[in-house]
Amino acid sequence: MEVIIRDSAEEVSVLGAKIVARLVRRKPRCVLGLATGRTPLRLYLELIRLYAAGELDFSGVETFNLDEYVGLPPGHPQSYHFYMRENFFRHVNIPARLTHIPDGCSADLRRHCLDYETAIKEAGGIDLQLLGIGSNGHIGFNEPTGSLNSRTWIKILSEKTLKDNAALFPTPEEQPRHVISMGIGTILEAGHCVVLACGAQKSSAVKAMIEGPVSSMCPASALQLHPRATVIADSAAAARLDHSEHYRWIEQHKLDWQKYE
Ligand code: F6R
Repeated sequence: MEVIIRDSAEEVSVLGAKIVARLVRRKPRCVLGLATGRTPLRLYLELIRLYAAGELDFSGVETFNLDEYVGLPPGHPQSYHFYMRENFFRHVNIPARLTHIPDGCSADLRRHCLDYETAIKEAGGIDLQLLGIGSNGHIGFNEPTGSLNSRTWIKILSEKTLKDNAALFPTPEEQPRHVISMGIGTILEAGHCVVLACGAQKSSAVKAMIEGPVSSMCPASALQLHPRATVIADSAAAARLDHSEHYRWIEQHKLDWQKYE
C-alpha cells in the first residue's frame, strides 16, 4: 500500500483531485469509480474548479458509483443520485449516459446488481476507484464480516454505520437499512484504488486497514492485496499509525515518475 500523510483534510482532497485529474488528462476516455459521503466533497469541488478553468475535460469519461440506498428514488435529497448530481455531475461535462449509479428502486434488485457488474466489465473495467472509509473499516458499503470476495449486491448496513450517518436523515425511520454496493471483489479489480481518510474518527479504521491483518473485520484491509492502492490520510486520521515515519520516508524517496506533485 502506498500511504501518503498530509497535515489537513484540504491537502488530502487537493492531492486526491490531482491524482484523478492526472488520469483524466492521460487517458481522456478513462473509467472512474466514484464515492459519496462527506469525505470526497472537497475533491469534487477541486475537479469542478479545474474544469471551469478549462484545465480538465470530462467529455470522454465514464463513471460508476460505488453504492446507493435501497428505496430512495433519484430525486430524494439523501440519495446518492441526488448527491452526485448536485455535488459533481451538473457542474462538469461528463455525458449523462456515461454516468452509472446503482438503482435502489429497481423492480428487480438482484438482476440489477448482476447487470451493474456486467456494465462495469463492458466499459472495460474501472481505471481508478475513489474510496472513503467508514469508522468501522467499511469501503463501499461492505460492512465487517462480509466476504472479501463479494460482488455488487444488496447489503445490510451495520448499526455502527447507521449511527455514523444518522444526522444526514431527518428521522431514523427515513434512514434506509439496505444499500446496493459494489463488492470488495469488484473494488479490488479497479486499476488503482485511492482511499481518502480525514478526521480522528477514522483513525482506528485507518490503522486496521494499513497495519492490521487482512481480515473481514476490517473490509478495507483487503486493499493490502491490491497491487496499486493509495491511502491519503490527514494527520488526525493517521494518528494511530505506528509507521508514519516509514511512510514519509518512502514518499521522500520516490522517483520523479512516481510522484503525484
Ligand atoms: C460512499 C461510501 C462509504 C463512505 C464512508 C465514509 O459512497 O461508499 O464507504 O465512503 O461511509 O463516509 P464519510 O466520507 O461520510 O465519512
